[in-house]
Amino acid sequence: MCKKETFYITTPIYYPSGNPHIGHCYTTVACDSIARYRRMQGYDVMFLTGTDEHGLKIEQKAAEKGVTPKEYVDEITAVFQSLWKFMNISYDRYIRTTDDYHIETVQKIFKELYDKGYIYKGEYKGKYCTPCESFWTDSQLVDGKCPDCGREVTEAKEEAYFFKMSPFADRIEKLLTETDYLQPKTRAVELVNNFIKPGLEDLCVSRTSFKWGIPVTFDTNHVVYVWIDALSNYISALGYKNEKFDEFDKYWPADVHMVAKDIMRFHAIIWPAMLMALDLPLPKHLAVHGWITFNGQKMSKSLGNVVDPFILGKRYGADAIRYQIMREMALGADSSFSNEIMINRINSDLANGLGNLVSRTVAMVEKYFGGTLPVERESGEFDDDLICTATSLKKSVDGYMDKTQLNNALAEIFKVVSRANKYIDETAPWVLAKDENNRTRLATVLYNLLETIRIVSTLLSAFMPTTMTRALEQIGADEAAATYDNADKFGVLPLDVTVKKGEALFPRIDVEKEIEELNSIIKNNDTESEETKKLREEIEGVAQIGIDDFGKVDLRVAEIKACEPIKEAKKLLKLTVFDGVKERTVASGIAKYYKPEELVGKKIILVSNLKPAKLCGVESCGMILAATCGDDIKVIFVDDMPAGAKIS
Ligand code: ME8
Ligand code: MG
Repeated sequence: MCKKETFYITTPIYYPSGNPHIGHCYTTVACDSIARYRRMQGYDVMFLTGTDEHGLKIEQKAAEKGVTPKEYVDEITAVFQSLWKFMNISYDRYIRTTDDYHIETVQKIFKELYDKGYIYKGEYKGKYCTPCESFWTDSQLVDGKCPDCGREVTEAKEEAYFFKMSPFADRIEKLLTETDYLQPKTRAVELVNNFIKPGLEDLCVSRTSFKWGIPVTFDTNHVVYVWIDALSNYISALGYKNEKFDEFDKYWPADVHMVAKDIMRFHAIIWPAMLMALDLPLPKHLAVHGWITFNGQKMSKSLGNVVDPFILGKRYGADAIRYQIMREMALGADSSFSNEIMINRINSDLANGLGNLVSRTVAMVEKYFGGTLPVERESGEFDDDLICTATSLKKSVDGYMDKTQLNNALAEIFKVVSRANKYIDETAPWVLAKDENNRTRLATVLYNLLETIRIVSTLLSAFMPTTMTRALEQIGADEAAATYDNADKFGVLPLDVTVKKGEALFPRIDVEKEIEELNSIIKNNDTESEETKKLREEIEGVAQIGIDDFGKVDLRVAEIKACEPIKEAKKLLKLTVFDGVKERTVASGIAKYYKPEELVGKKIILVSNLKPAKLCGVESCGMILAATCGDDIKVIFVDDMPAGAKIS
């Protein structure tokens, strides 16, 4: 077998100087979708993200809170990591710039650049914006203020090391204007005119006025200042100049660095200059997207107008949020966020478009054929158009993924969803169903719909992994059917495919009610709300209780004596259990996972002191313990212990 082609993609490493918001989600979710898509295509993917944990601002914030900088970043980095778990981010590696191996790499890079004469000692004078951690020249200031955030800047002067950029100016200009490194390329003009043509200024790369940074090994009054530390993460994470990993040769140069325009200059000019100075190959692409704005301003933790992804994800599902932000953002342009835009998008595309297509199709297969299609087929009008549209989708999605235009990829996919919904109207299965002679045609129409859904869900699984797994399950597509290779073929599902009805993929949102509630929950500030904290602790499984709280729960082994379904409630089983003293009734939502006869005689763990509750007419006294993961549930059995034994 030949070796798999590699694909290396990175997000920026974010400052853990405030909690993550929808803006960070955008870049990370976009990279995740590309990474998943490439894995599906068969690439050996390395997907890197992380946190940029040094700098003056972190030092200051930690001091305000009365903790050490490391304690401060530990806490916020944990929030980033649980957000990525919550959003199903499939990163392969998470780098923290406070990790030892990264520090080692940065020190060696700094020394090498110094030894080669690209770094020299001088004095820094300039205007400094503390919140943005940026020095600006007078010509860069806008009305005397920081061009990025519009706030006051202060005069600053200190001994510092500088990185000489001018030797690389010509090569960088060529890189930006003559190659497709920069995406979108339209931005090259602005970079060349603003930064290269006036003469590339040397970059200040060390500071003595704060301590929270990587010490310069040969001059320990200095710490490495921001960009040499931050940008090096892309290679230290592969093991460049450190022993921790050994994958530099395998994955470098990166295929895609994705960033927003706030840090484009650093990635378009400084990073290539650093790599040239180190004699390393240059990354293949830099994809620069715009900002998510809120009420017309960049959503930003330092401006404090952020939207909390935990709250949105909990309400509408991580996949709906992933979809919404990717669908709205065009590479290069800004995209405004509002609760209205978000909910309308989720309702129109996901609930009404895709969700409805899947639920109608599956419901019709169940209603007209008892869930399993007959094998005979009879083609008819509209089939060819649907099939051709569906089978050519993969090629156009591939094209957009290659150009990192995720919104366009999604738009293409949803055109096919609309085409399929229109096909339902055109073929009117409910009319076909009225005439026995049309059974074969009806089966064909439904099969064509299932196949279209298979193709769409397979390609979409890179964007909405959890929900698309459920969609594929509902239409009876197993893993072998739902592969990228099969995504441009028609007729992959077995002719006598069996569908499995499930819960709605994307419940419709009541716009007015939700917007009112959201406005009252989402506070536009930087601190984590109580709701978010609770949610996050739930995700992390770290919500803390005292030993007394735990002691309040009485857990006992109990034996299942009898078990029957509950007519009124499909999900519930009615269990009669013996708790060591007496028999009692417990209703449990496990009907989908266990047949009554599988359970009788088994011993389970019972929450025995739970207040009784009435569930669908059954008085339920207690609860039984089960492990859950996504849609799967396994009851915990303890067959070796007698009923009544206490769990402690
Ligand atoms: O700049 N819209 O970290 P950072 C879209 N540590 N994307 C947004 C956004 C918004 N409103 N807000 C943030 C840093 N982002 C450095 C990076 S990399 C070697 C060092 C995303 O926490 C977007 O990707 O300020 C942006 O470039 C990044 O977060 C900035 O993150
Ligand atoms: Mg920033």
